[in-house]
Amino acid sequence: MVKREGVIYAYRLLFGREPENETVVRHYATEVNDLQNLRELFINSTEFSEILEQIKSPRPPRLPFNGPPMAIDLISSDEKLGLLFSKIAKQWQYLGETQPHWSVLTNDSYFQENFHSNRDAFYASGQIELHQFDATLARANILPDGFKRCVELGCGVGRVTIPLAQSFEQVLALDISQAHLLVAQHYADENSVNNITFKQLCQLDEISQLGSFDVLYSRIVLQHNTPPVMAKLLNELLAQLLPGGIAFFQIPTYQAGYRFHIDEYLAQENNNTMEMHFFPQTALFELLAAQQCNILEIREDDAIGLSLTAVSNTFLVQKQFL
Ligand SMILES: C[S@@+](CC[C@H](N)C(=O)[O-])C[C@H]1O[C@@H](n2cnc3c(N)ncnc32)[C@H](O)[C@@H]1O
Repeated sequence: MVKREGVIYAYRLLFGREPENETVVRHYATEVNDLQNLRELFINSTEFSEILEQIKSPRPPRLPFNGPPMAIDLISSDEKLGLLFSKIAKQWQYLGETQPHWSVLTNDSYFQENFHSNRDAFYASGQIELHQFDATLARANILPDGFKRCVELGCGVGRVTIPLAQSFEQVLALDISQAHLLVAQHYADENSVNNITFKQLCQLDEISQLGSFDVLYSRIVLQHNTPPVMAKLLNELLAQLLPGGIAFFQIPTYQAGYRFHIDEYLAQENNNTMEMHFFPQTALFELLAAQQCNILEIREDDAIGLSLTAVSNTFLVQKQFL
């Protein structure tokens, strides 16, 4: 037996965070013999080895300022937008059927065969994402108390959705892949969370029919969509954001040498692998201005890994008040 406080301090000291919930604390407090055993268990966990990796690998130098411009088709006919969207939908349905967790966080620990023993770390990482969101809101002096309805674009298997549902009255969790949604729904049921509506985005047009909402949350999702689809998704979502509402989203904004040509892309065969796309910052600023959104914070992030040739940004924006 270990004291409850011992478990909590072990989390703080070794993982740098609070335990997920009281059940987890009780589990370790009653199942582990003593502090020595708890320490060994935590030190040998995937979560702790990931923390060590981060500490050991120094951040590479920043992308030099002399990269070339990107050649990107941003505007597409509705017909081609539909084709672009269904190509991505097929990939994610396949990924969801074969590797639902690994496709969300591409770490070997989350392959289906390894997932069982790494489940806690996987879902704990969602809680960490929410802490980052809260901290970003606090830096911008935004109090989320008045926000009721949150839309999550690309909820995956519910890693961040459950923590979001603990912060907001209602969450509409959208995903392009039914396979991911089924896992997410199951996880929400297991945790008795019932203020989430899970919805598959079957066609791109459906994005304009969500109704108004206060918060948009989307990380590691837009990057898997082609630039014209990213533009459509962001335009339609931000158009439905209520005045004073906020959007917290991540999007890769530069890769040296990246180009996107619609017809060339549509002519390529679908190989069911995860794609990575980029959206120029200047075009994004224009889009945000057109949707009457003020930028509150932009951060370079490590969502696409740390790279010498590519940049990803996380944005906090706020829809202007009427
Ligand atoms: C890398 S996972 C991230 C999941 C979740 N955001 C998280 O951080 O745990 C990307 C998810 O976005 C979904 N997705 C990709 N493109 C989408 C789109 N256009 N609309 C809705 N979901 C999309 C995928 O099916 C997948 O579940």
